[in-house]
Amino acid sequence: MNKDKMILRTPFLERACHWLMVLCFIAVALSGLSWFFPSFNGLNAVFGTPQLARILHPFFGVAVFLALVFLFIRFVNYNLPEPEDKQWFTHLDRVISARHDKPLHIGKYNPGQKLLFWGIMGLISLLLLSGVVIWRPYFAPLFSIPVIRVGLFVHALAGLSLILLVIGHAYLAFWVKGSIRGMVTGYVTRNWAKQHHDRWYRQLNAKQRKARGPK
Ligand code: HEM
Repeated sequence: MNKDKMILRTPFLERACHWLMVLCFIAVALSGLSWFFPSFNGLNAVFGTPQLARILHPFFGVAVFLALVFLFIRFVNYNLPEPEDKQWFTHLDRVISARHDKPLHIGKYNPGQKLLFWGIMGLISLLLLSGVVIWRPYFAPLFSIPVIRVGLFVHALAGLSLILLVIGHAYLAFWVKGSIRGMVTGYVTRNWAKQHHDRWYRQLNAKQRKARGPK
């Protein structure tokens, strides 16, 4: 890989955090799903035994939350709404058919990724709050039975929604060729950046020119 022709998109710490969090998320999601129907029970083998799954599921859930807090701090600035985002929504047909002939003024993350970012952050917060309410034997005794019932309902609903959101996120990551490589190696090609995040690309170039100074 010739790094001169590539652009650093995601630094090492953020990538390591993302992929470690993905491993924890898979274990938490599979063990969580295992309690929905008896026919799903086998999924809790992800933690070895059903007893271990019951004990470790909440701790791994907290690990996912903490990793997402770190990613939130690192990425929130790039996921705030901007006036240029309107262009992406009004030209969704061009986004879906991958027509990059005219610029869409997309920043580091596109408005779809921004919505997903806030969806993930909102749902993980709900999962943590409802998870604490239903966490036996530590916190659940502090709450009344009706509150625990509401906690269980919210937790199940938020968990299923997050799993669906993540499936969509992973599908789109594979759909946009070059994204996965960016999240694995950290680097994307200049062409990829120009095509998918044109405004971010222009901003990076302007920064590089400024750093080089006048010739
Ligand atoms: C196998 C599953 C997954 C794959 C293949 C995947 C892939 C990716 C890729 C390629 C990016 C970089 C996108 C870009 O540079 O434009 C990314 C970013 C991100 N991913 Fe994942 N991911 C997966 C699972 C997850 C999970 C489980 C979560 C959290 C619950 C998550 C949260 C995020 C966040 C917060 C970002 C930053 C996006 C932003 O700031 O808008 N990912 N992911």
